[in-house]
Amino acid sequence: MTANLVTGIAELVTNDETLHGADHADGLGLLRNCAIAVEDGKVVWLGAAAKAPQADNRIDLDGCAVIPGFVDSHSHLVFAGDRSAEFAARMTGIPYDGGGIAVSVNATRAASDDELRILVARRVAEMRAQGTTTVEIKSGYGLSVEDEVRALRIAGEFTDETTFLGAHVVPTEYADHRDDYVDLVTGPMLQACAPYARWIDVFCEPHSRHAFTEDEARAVLAAGRDVGLGLRVHGNQLGHGPGVRLAVELGAASVDHCTFLSQADVDALVDAADTTTATLLPGVEFSTRSPYPDARTLIDAGVSVALASDCNPGTCYSSSMPLAIALAVREMHLTPAEALRAATAGSAKALRRDDIGRIRVGGRSDLTVLDAPSYLHLSYRPGVPIAHALNLN
Ligand code: NIG
Ligand code: FE
Repeated sequence: MTANLVTGIAELVTNDETLHGADHADGLGLLRNCAIAVEDGKVVWLGAAAKAPQADNRIDLDGCAVIPGFVDSHSHLVFAGDRSAEFAARMTGIPYDGGGIAVSVNATRAASDDELRILVARRVAEMRAQGTTTVEIKSGYGLSVEDEVRALRIAGEFTDETTFLGAHVVPTEYADHRDDYVDLVTGPMLQACAPYARWIDVFCEPHSRHAFTEDEARAVLAAGRDVGLGLRVHGNQLGHGPGVRLAVELGAASVDHCTFLSQADVDALVDAADTTTATLLPGVEFSTRSPYPDARTLIDAGVSVALASDCNPGTCYSSSMPLAIALAVREMHLTPAEALRAATAGSAKALRRDDIGRIRVGGRSDLTVLDAPSYLHLSYRPGVPIAHALNLN
């Protein structure tokens, strides 16, 4: 007997290129009228509904589509405070420069552990309710040894994909001696945070005086690599710059934003496609009224592309992967299939995971159900809450 059998699936997106009998026309490995058997958090069988095995428990989805749970490979969920006034000011034309991060740092430092934990729990639940089953969570609103460790400990209560972002901005108390802050991040802060982190990230952005230069970012990433952390980079968000080049040079798993790219950046990402994913965050362009990345050029050139939310209090306070998909289709000219793949298998690759982002026998049973007959509805019905993660006992 199998523990759970999910039936009544009108359309199943597997993202499994090797699946026999699937429709591979759009690269999604589609099956129709099928069922999935699940045991102990893993897929143990999938195929035509008529051939499904017996099960202790049957869940009939009555004609819904099922997709791999969204993998949100970029978020900043550990923060307190409110920056809605900054957003309102931006809508009147005040540009984003990273200066508002200090507001979140002050509020986050002032919050108790339990207050922060509750805020993160609510945001993770909000994501799950919209179909996200894996989330990466960064620190970066503590910016002291104690507050960064605390952010990572709390993040680790919700995910294994924790990222040390002590190099988010130079905190105001170090503004006049930023070298000392880089020494802190690459020394004692890294030593204290590394046990709680899988990744290290840096906001490499010459267009913001709050963020880090190429040399500073290189020092931060090299120190993280030396203690065994995987590398991620915030790069090329506010203007052309060294972020993509640096990420590729150091073999980072992902370089995120990629809003302003030169031809040399695109070429470097093509060459590094097995190693470094370009993670696009269109909710940021939407919420900061910036130009969208040239995703069409990236995909057509053969770059490995992911989509994530970047849920954070400054540039995009949206936890919605369906919004990212709808924007990718409407504003960045991805096909609905390309956008869905980028938000699942693409973002799994950005986290160097092969147990998520696909639905296949032996992989995790992270299933997202759509109240719709086809994945096309993700971008066809923007703003309508049709996606939710399936809870299986
Ligand atoms: O990914 N660019 C740096 N970090 C965030 C924004 C953080 C904030 O403004 O609070 C981002 O856009
Ligand atoms: Fe970010």
